[in-house]
Amino acid sequence: MSLDLAEANFSHLSKEFLRVVEVAAVESARTMGFGQRKQSDRAAVEAMREAMRSVPMNGRIVIGEGERDKAPMLYIGERVGRGAALPDDDANPFPAVDIAVDPLEGTNLCATGAPNAIAVLAAAERGGLLHAPDMYMNKLVVGPAARGRLHIDAPVAENLRILSECLRRAVGDLVVSVLDRPRHEKLIAEIRAAGARIQLISDGDLSAGISAAVSGSGVHAVMGIGGAPEGVLTAAAMKCLNGEIQARFVLKEQLHAEDCAKVAEDSETIARMQAMGITDPKRVYQTDDLAPGERIIFAMTGVTNGNVLRGVRFFGEGKRTSSLLMTTRPHTVRLVDTVHVEGGPDAVIRL
Ligand code: FBP
Repeated sequence: MSLDLAEANFSHLSKEFLRVVEVAAVESARTMGFGQRKQSDRAAVEAMREAMRSVPMNGRIVIGEGERDKAPMLYIGERVGRGAALPDDDANPFPAVDIAVDPLEGTNLCATGAPNAIAVLAAAERGGLLHAPDMYMNKLVVGPAARGRLHIDAPVAENLRILSECLRRAVGDLVVSVLDRPRHEKLIAEIRAAGARIQLISDGDLSAGISAAVSGSGVHAVMGIGGAPEGVLTAAAMKCLNGEIQARFVLKEQLHAEDCAKVAEDSETIARMQAMGITDPKRVYQTDDLAPGERIIFAMTGVTNGNVLRGVRFFGEGKRTSSLLMTTRPHTVRLVDTVHVEGGPDAVIRL
């Protein structure tokens, strides 16, 4: 294997990843409101892949657009970056990096101009991010104050009571973000019965997880079933934000009828899980299981306006992006506001 990420210029690499998510966000934002989710996604994927070509790394996609036969770009196992053209061995002069991408998280959100569509990626040293198949996962996400105090298998009312203690407020003052899906009927009823408030979201449980981990966002937890790839990306973000995710894979036999058509047969899914090294499908994964890396980079740019970030703004002589760039070593959380100037020497830049 080539140079270890520890030896690389970590700070330089994080800025390169910032550029990658900015470009993906800009290109998908150009399609905002067109009502064409696939077109929005394609714009983000193509832009992200192109931008990644010049990153000085020996990158490998571990969470991507799907398996190679289904996804022509950013597929699982695809090698990316300047080191991709060279053999993946000790002689490769670029740092070896595993990458999880979601070029457009919230394709419907972008297609309809709804809040919280983002372009996002996480990177770590090799083996630093779980290779998770594209299936469903049950998740519980909380911020630093409640880390280690709740359990995904505990009754909802019990978890909310503990969360209220951790956050020093009444259960009625809590807001839980839940994907608005028929599969969550029982969960929603239990949260309501416990007395907490709910933010039902049409899509985007990754950005909801980030909101739950930061103070002042108005969201205190995320509960329910969403995508496993988003679960791994959430874990990478939690490592940077000192939050927590607990998660468990969900097989077809446990799913609501409405979701069954979207997933493969369990025998096929279990075989894929095993090929990725997941032997116990019922295991509860903690943050460190999903993102065991020590050197994590998390980069995300708003496509549409959201709880944490603003969306892309086009102003004729350029555009402006709002991003979150986080690293574990050194432990930094940066809010980056970038003006991309295109108007030449006479362009007026408003700060
Ligand atoms: P896309 O960006 O692929 O459209 O996914 C958005 C999302 O809402 C995720 O945030 C969430 O984890 C998942 O889809 C939920 O899946 P489903 O829409 O099948 O319930």
